[in-house]
Amino acid sequence: MARPLDLAVVVPTFNERGNVAELVSRLDRALAGRGWEVILVDDDSPDGTAEAARELARADPRVRVIQRIGRRGLSSACVEGMCATAAPVVAVIDGDLQHDETLLPAMLDRLTADPDLDLIVGSRFVEGGGTGEWDKDRVAKSALATRLARRVLKADLSDPMSGFFAIRTAIVRGLVPDLSAIGFKILLDLMTTSPRPLRFAELPYTFRVRTEGESKLDHVVALEYLIALYDRMFGRVVPVRFAMFSVIGLLGTAVHMGVLSLLYLGLGATFLAGQIAATLVALTGNFFLNNALTYRDRRLKGWRQLVDGWVSFAAVCAVGAVANVGIAGFLHDVRSGAWAVSALVGVLVGAVWNYALSSRFTWGRY
Ligand code: GDD
Ligand code: MN
Repeated sequence: MARPLDLAVVVPTFNERGNVAELVSRLDRALAGRGWEVILVDDDSPDGTAEAARELARADPRVRVIQRIGRRGLSSACVEGMCATAAPVVAVIDGDLQHDETLLPAMLDRLTADPDLDLIVGSRFVEGGGTGEWDKDRVAKSALATRLARRVLKADLSDPMSGFFAIRTAIVRGLVPDLSAIGFKILLDLMTTSPRPLRFAELPYTFRVRTEGESKLDHVVALEYLIALYDRMFGRVVPVRFAMFSVIGLLGTAVHMGVLSLLYLGLGATFLAGQIAATLVALTGNFFLNNALTYRDRRLKGWRQLVDGWVSFAAVCAVGAVANVGIAGFLHDVRSGAWAVSALVGVLVGAVWNYALSSRFTWGRY
């Protein structure tokens, strides 16, 4: 007789082939006597994590696998896993064995015992918890990120950066439409999105050392964290992607002027040749920056995708430039005194055009 399903454990994975079997066997031990399932959400890892997970799933139907193609992101993977279960409670845990799975039964029991609680957070910073063998540098960075998070959160959560927690699934389903789902910090996203403060309890655990595979936390992930905070604070006024696209656009203008001065003033090229070269360099730079940052989750890869993407980006921007010049010219004809305003409106219309169309045609294929 199957047990009623009490808990779903969602595990985001990227290149964790060496860890998934051990994780599932540890869950089996930790959750003995409970009705549970584990959902591994893999972003098509090159190391074949999804296939390794499916092999486990064939032997044990409590193991389920979602293989996402053409998408990346820890938070969005968690969201997808959390939406894929019928269990009333869902826990999120890393796939690299760094979180303490033996805490899961206690998390579940606390939620069952206290209907007023919405979620239980595994914390490294309450009495009894710890960051294990982290070096000073990572401790300092994590402390800074935690301070920032607390300011946005306005809740007295000791470890808002935690990626280890259990929450009532119905609450998640209610919040999903408004989540930003950017980057690494799904807990923070859930808690800042909720219109009413979520009621939480914290349980201590010690962050373990990773033995297999490697961490995916890099500078871009750190940048994504800041972006996610921006999104929380100002995202409704200026959407985060548009903000990034615009900042990169400004950078492109600087690159353009730099290349132009180098060629025209420095090397004595004609103005036209300088302009063409500067345009191509700035356009190409912006294309790659947007691909790596603004559209990181839908990044184009490989020669074919990159060439197609570049061509469509160039086409979109060419039309954007014509629109920019046309509109600025029109406004200037109407009121010739307002030349600066006319130019700025032209730039803004061009930027919105470039953004809207490139997000649809250059990065919108999935
Ligand atoms: N599906 C998917 N897609 N999974 C991902 C991705 C992704 O783009 N990036 C990372 N993961 C998975 C990893 O495979 C691992 O199972 C888990 O997410 C955590 O990634 P790590 O790269 O091991 O992160 P970490 O150890 O540096 O950070 C962890 O510690 C933080 C505490 O500071 C994460 O658990 C954070 O959530 C946690 O807050
Ligand atoms: Mn890790």
